[in-house]
Amino acid sequence: MRSLLLAFLTLLLRAQGAFLVQPYLQLGDAPRAARAERLDLLWHAEDREAAWTVEVRGPKGWILQAAPVFHRLDAPPLPAHRIYRATLGNLVPGTVVPYRVKRDAAVVFEAEAQARKPGAHRMVVFGDAADGSKGQAAIAQAVLAARPDAVFITGDLVYGRGRAAEYRTVFFPFYNSETVPLLRRVPFLGVPGNHDVPFANYPDAAAYFAYWAQPLNGPALKAGDKNAAPVIPGLHDAVVAASGAAFPRMASFSFDYGNVHWTVLDSNAYTDWESPALKAWLEADLAAAKHATWRIVALHHPLFQSSRTHFDDQWMRPISPVLEKYGVDLVLAGHVHNYQRSAPLRFRPTRIGRRGRPVEGEFTVDEAFDGQKVTRARGIIHIVTGGGGAELYDLWQTEARVSWQPWTRILRSDTHSFTVLDVEGPTLKLRQLDAQGRELDAITLTK
Ligand SMILES: [Fe+2]
Repeated sequence: MRSLLLAFLTLLLRAQGAFLVQPYLQLGDAPRAARAERLDLLWHAEDREAAWTVEVRGPKGWILQAAPVFHRLDAPPLPAHRIYRATLGNLVPGTVVPYRVKRDAAVVFEAEAQARKPGAHRMVVFGDAADGSKGQAAIAQAVLAARPDAVFITGDLVYGRGRAAEYRTVFFPFYNSETVPLLRRVPFLGVPGNHDVPFANYPDAAAYFAYWAQPLNGPALKAGDKNAAPVIPGLHDAVVAASGAAFPRMASFSFDYGNVHWTVLDSNAYTDWESPALKAWLEADLAAAKHATWRIVALHHPLFQSSRTHFDDQWMRPISPVLEKYGVDLVLAGHVHNYQRSAPLRFRPTRIGRRGRPVEGEFTVDEAFDGQKVTRARGIIHIVTGGGGAELYDLWQTEARVSWQPWTRILRSDTHSFTVLDVEGPTLKLRQLDAQGRELDAITLTK
């Protein structure tokens, strides 16, 4: 027992010395399920030579993985550092796989990774989270207790400006510590929000592109394109260089998990989803997802929501007819710091004004769906799950139903919360939980 404890403490000390950011899991450029699953493992370390290796435990012992590669990020105020990436390969779908990282032949990190599940699974979703607050910490603990297979963050990944320095202090320590060992066990996926884009004055802004590893199957954007995150040459060069192929393409993408197809859209103000290039990609992606039982669109800016704050940020509404055409079931958004669920909706835009102005149109609302007895939805259910940690918006609206849009079915602004999606074949259960695990909302959808 004593020797076990000693071994654990030695590993802990080595781990603390070896990493600036401890290893964390990402889906990597693996959008589709495969017989041999994989996950990317990333970590940050000082900018000096070291012999890093990664091993995965197989039935006959540890299996050496392909040598890690690294990008260097040299953007103040953090000292230049290395973002290492290795791939955990040949994973049996759905299994929990032990892995370890060695530096100069010494084991410095050990954990277990949840490989993508082919069938029933639990996805946790929340947005607007990492601001270093007690609310964020409480939700992180509750998400751990909910035992997700993967986590999706609907944007505003890191406050205040998506900077590398902020990831170091308010993101990784909250989701990947000894007490909250989430990111080392399950992959986090996410979409950039308006706080994750390249801000002027901050050379380490838009660190999303350098620190996340997600599918590179989005619209084939190039730096400088109209719909690409607008970096400032000479200011954001270091982040762009450290991002490799991820910039600017990784802002939108799609992936499958179980029988769910996820279409992830960069909804920031510089994107125009009515433009031919983006619209064609969206249609092609959804058309190719016929194999999926469920279709989910995830983005930062909601199409339909009732909060007074950000009420006029409606510029994503015009994509609704395309989503309806291809049978999208759920739209998951953030941006608005509370929880909201709409009735199943269809929408025909009649007046599209300038950005930040209302988008008017005709609604068709499925009044019969209640998620309890009537579980087949005719239309898309819009969820805002922006209560992941940052300061809540419009607390008074929770009780003030008169302030809700006629198709809003629940609005909870009085507490932080997150969404749990349990998908099993033709049944999708959606629950909204608070930091104590109490249920704020629960619906079932069936096909
Ligand atoms: Fe936002």
